[in-house]
Amino acid sequence: MHGEVTVSGSKNATLPIMAAALLTEEPCVIRRVPNLSDTRFMARILESLGAKTKFELGTLMVHARKIRGYADYELVRKMRGSICITGPLLGRLKQARVSLPGGCVIGARPINLHLKGFEALGAKIKIEGGYIDATAKPLAGTAMFLGGRAGSTVLGTANVMMAATLAEGVTVIESAACEPEVVDLAKFLTAMGAKISGAGSPTVTITGVEQLHGAEHEVIPDRIEAATFAIAAAATNGEVTLKGARADHSRAVLDKLKETGVSVQPRGGDLIIRRGKKLNSADVTTLPYPGFPTDVQAQMMSLLALAPGISIITERIFESRFMHVSELARLGADIQIEGPSAIVKGGQPLSGAPVMASDLRASAALVIAGLAAKGATQVNRIYHLDRGYEGMDAKLRNLGARIQRVKET
Ligand code: EPU
Repeated sequence: MHGEVTVSGSKNATLPIMAAALLTEEPCVIRRVPNLSDTRFMARILESLGAKTKFELGTLMVHARKIRGYADYELVRKMRGSICITGPLLGRLKQARVSLPGGCVIGARPINLHLKGFEALGAKIKIEGGYIDATAKPLAGTAMFLGGRAGSTVLGTANVMMAATLAEGVTVIESAACEPEVVDLAKFLTAMGAKISGAGSPTVTITGVEQLHGAEHEVIPDRIEAATFAIAAAATNGEVTLKGARADHSRAVLDKLKETGVSVQPRGGDLIIRRGKKLNSADVTTLPYPGFPTDVQAQMMSLLALAPGISIITERIFESRFMHVSELARLGADIQIEGPSAIVKGGQPLSGAPVMASDLRASAALVIAGLAAKGATQVNRIYHLDRGYEGMDAKLRNLGARIQRVKET
């Protein structure tokens, strides 16, 4: 693959930022919003709560003048990310009734830490009939520890941070998630009049204010999309310029790419990714930010399947996030799972085959492997891809990939 590709706005920054617009009765304008089924779906959820939304050319307007605090199972179950409406509803209305999100193929995704944070702020939580019932009169700031089994929680931190903006007094979140998406949310909340310091570090301090106002914000570029295209370039022996990619958000991935023999060069605000003569094997362990992201584990596995030698990929965030392994095997990859690790015996030739996508990032991994494989690969269930990649097929085609959508999903 050769050429230039512009990185879209970050899905995982956009979703909580959209939810944050529920915290004010004034209109908010969010720019560089990726046009994805997940962002369109989040807009539907906001509308179901009474907000008005308008999406045009990457700009989303949300006006939550009057809202209700009830989010139905039928909507919430379809997208786990929708759990991040709970914090804003609780903050603004002091009451929220939100369906528990339900299962997910990448592993158990509990929300105990979200609830622990709300309770620390003084909310009474009841789980009944599959719904979280949270009430507070009022919310009161406090110090809390939000670390869990696998470290920090991204949406848990976002949820508690949003509720705390309208709590009385000072909230300190220890073991807060440090992801750039949390920092972006804090930036938007600050533009709305919230008082937040420390976002991006494990200690975030929020001083409650009486109310928030409307604000404008531009979402950060999607570091996971950028990483996916960088890996696709490497896998296809290509040279691709990632326009607008933030190297400072992707150090762990770029470092690992260099270890595998891929050249990464910053130029202005862009990154040029070029595959070296040969690929090296490498060991990868996923960790909370700034560690290697779990959301790039599957794509990296496709690349390492092409690198001669043994690579060990250890998944520390979602331990059953290996659904792509058996599909990659259908293309000829030699990968074995041992506990939380996948042992990749790389360098076997891949050949095209029909495969089934199981989740968003697994789908991206299958597309990458399909691009590198000899012959044609048919990736089924690409609605997963459309949840999180804006026009991925068109972007890849522009870079010279032979890829087409054979049936609308
Ligand atoms: N966890 C708990 N208790 C909780 C919450 C989380 O034990 O209350 C555990 C999880 O089981 C997991 C770990 O903590 O082991 C981290 O989960 P986290 O809460 O950080 O995940 P999330 O906030 O639900 C977001 C992204 C995911 C991404 C993870 C990890 C959004 C909408 N989703 O989920 O993105 O994998 O952070 O970085 O921001 C994706 O985009 O494909 C995706 C799955």
